[in-house]
Amino acid sequence: MKTVLITGASGYLGSNLVEYFSSRYDLIKVARKKNEKGILAVDLANEASVADLSRQHNPDFILHAAGIKAQACEKNPELARVNVSASELLTMHFPSTKIYFFSTDFIFDGKRGDYTEIDPSNPLTIYGRSKLAAESFYDLERHCIIRTAGLFNLNQPGFLNYVFSQLSQEKPIEAFTDVYSTPTYLPYLCKTLDDMIELGVAGLFHIAGSERVSRFEFAKLVAREFSYDENLIHGIEAPESFLNPRDSSLDSSKIKDLLNLKWKSISSALEEMHNKKSSL
Ligand SMILES: NC(=O)c1ccc[n+]([C@@H]2O[C@H](COP(=O)([O-])OP(=O)(O)OC[C@H]3O[C@@H](n4cnc5c(N)ncnc54)[C@H](OP(=O)(O)O)[C@@H]3O)[C@@H](O)[C@H]2O)c1
Repeated sequence: MKTVLITGASGYLGSNLVEYFSSRYDLIKVARKKNEKGILAVDLANEASVADLSRQHNPDFILHAAGIKAQACEKNPELARVNVSASELLTMHFPSTKIYFFSTDFIFDGKRGDYTEIDPSNPLTIYGRSKLAAESFYDLERHCIIRTAGLFNLNQPGFLNYVFSQLSQEKPIEAFTDVYSTPTYLPYLCKTLDDMIELGVAGLFHIAGSERVSRFEFAKLVAREFSYDENLIHGIEAPESFLNPRDSSLDSSKIKDLLNLKWKSISSALEEMHNKKSSL
């Protein structure tokens, strides 16, 4: 069985990768803090720790899903350096190991949307700039950069969780009508990644949902699937001070054409998620 090192294994993306790939590969799971689920504590911003990790393990490939998220980077810009140094140190200390690095739609300014891999980047935020800087360490002949967006599945800690917790208690929510993205159902991302690994592809790829929706529209779709009262969702415009790109939707046709994939709609993904929830 091949061995795969997953960074960020305790995080939202990383724990979904662990769940999906644990039956196919021997996993080395890494996070900043050790935990009871067999996770090794390695500070990826610390050179001695990464060098140590590479002396002790020789994985067939790395899924690099560790990172500091948008809000935390804006609040504490020093933290954003982790996003850059982790990529620098992993590529340096695992020179012959293929890395699949997870980047973001926030490397675009969101003025246009529907971005392909050849569109110019222009990040607006500290987070976006740190992820773009991290991308520069990857030799695209060998590694894979995967730009994804708005990941969702059960137990999502962000917007979806807010929608669930408010609407299930019949409390109103406000959602932006003018902030668009391509929400990505995590099991579809994992399956696509699985096919990419199988095929051995390298390069830069967008992997995101096939529909561009505003947060308001997304909340409505959730309400419809889970039979919550849609009237509780109030559409508002994002304030001037809102830093994130307004339309960071990604065009993922490069990978979908290559693998001949047809991703289902957001409604179908939510229905699948709902069925999974009901069977838990
Ligand atoms: N969530 C999304 O919708 C989304 C969309 C696009 C791209 N991404 C990218 O995916 C990555 C993961 O996102 P996420 O939502 O899974 O974030 P998350 O839930 O906050 O998880 C972050 C993970 O990174 C680890 N980590 C943080 N600092 C570290 C350090 N210095 N050394 C080692 N590990 C460290 C954390 O470990 P501890 O828990 O031990 O601190 C945790 O396992 C990010 O880089 C983000 O850019 C996410």
